[in-house]
Amino acid sequence: MFPVMASTAGDVRRACDRVRQRGDRVAFVPTMGALHAGHLALVAEAKRRAPFVVVSIFVNPAQFGPGEDFARYPRSLESDRTQLAAWSDTCVFVPTVGEMYPPGEQTRVRVGALAEPLCGRFRPGHFEGVATVVVKLFSAVGPCEAIFGRKDYQQLLVVRRVVDDLLLPVTVVDRPTMREPDGLAMSSRNAYLSPDERVRALSLARGLDAAARHFAQGERSARELERVARQPLEAAGARIDYVELRDADTLADIPAEVGDRGVLAVACRVGAIRLIDNVVLGQDPPPLAAGGS
Ligand code: PAJ
Repeated sequence: MFPVMASTAGDVRRACDRVRQRGDRVAFVPTMGALHAGHLALVAEAKRRAPFVVVSIFVNPAQFGPGEDFARYPRSLESDRTQLAAWSDTCVFVPTVGEMYPPGEQTRVRVGALAEPLCGRFRPGHFEGVATVVVKLFSAVGPCEAIFGRKDYQQLLVVRRVVDDLLLPVTVVDRPTMREPDGLAMSSRNAYLSPDERVRALSLARGLDAAARHFAQGERSARELERVARQPLEAAGARIDYVELRDADTLADIPAEVGDRGVLAVACRVGAIRLIDNVVLGQDPPPLAAGGS
């Protein structure tokens, strides 16, 4: 059964209000579509938490900078709807740009220090675009549990901050990064990798894996762990934006030694495709532990 479609905030809100009025919960999975198993794992978690699930599919222009891949971002609504047909009581919210950014719009949500390092430094305005659209989507859905992936670790922290700061009636739930059998983090952008780039893209997970194993063996020097993670990227000819170990809660710098926990985050370009990945040292298993070589 194909899920119900909604294209306006009003339709989604009415559908969710009906569910809440009968005493049931709503869970929400925001996406930009081109759904893969990582997205579907979030939907499965949503379904475990609530009988009614909203999945939004909206390629948000406000979070793409000039020269980024907004126009080229993969769009596959029919196949996305087919993948969601496995779940009953699901609503797919597919708004237009005009619905989300009505004529004359001039409001933005800007987050402070959390949005500055890592991807914030290389994608100015990106997290403002994310925060703004997420608040609009939360406003349409209303009180809910919202499921996010740790693949976009900085985004997850930014969204949590926004929810707390703006007193939104949303519980943010996070889920681990889903990987291909060889360890590559699933991403809608992987579809654009050539066979050669696909091989080189594995260097992200390899670097993080090597660093996670060094950490498990007792290495605590932040610069040394970053160096270990960089090596495979450099060998693969990836153009590195950053490889940084930061505080897993605040994203603050770690000047010397990491304590019990820290997020090691990577962004680089393989060919023209920008890829990100991360591992939370002291929390996540090494990325290749689940079957990769
Ligand atoms: P998108 O990249 O489509 O991702 C939607 C959700 O899926 C995010 O929470 C992301 O972290 C999660 N996700 C992506 N790949 C994953 C993987 N391999 N394993 C687990 N979860 C994964 O993130 C966005 O869209 C947008 O910025 C959005 C939040 C929808 C705002 O526009």
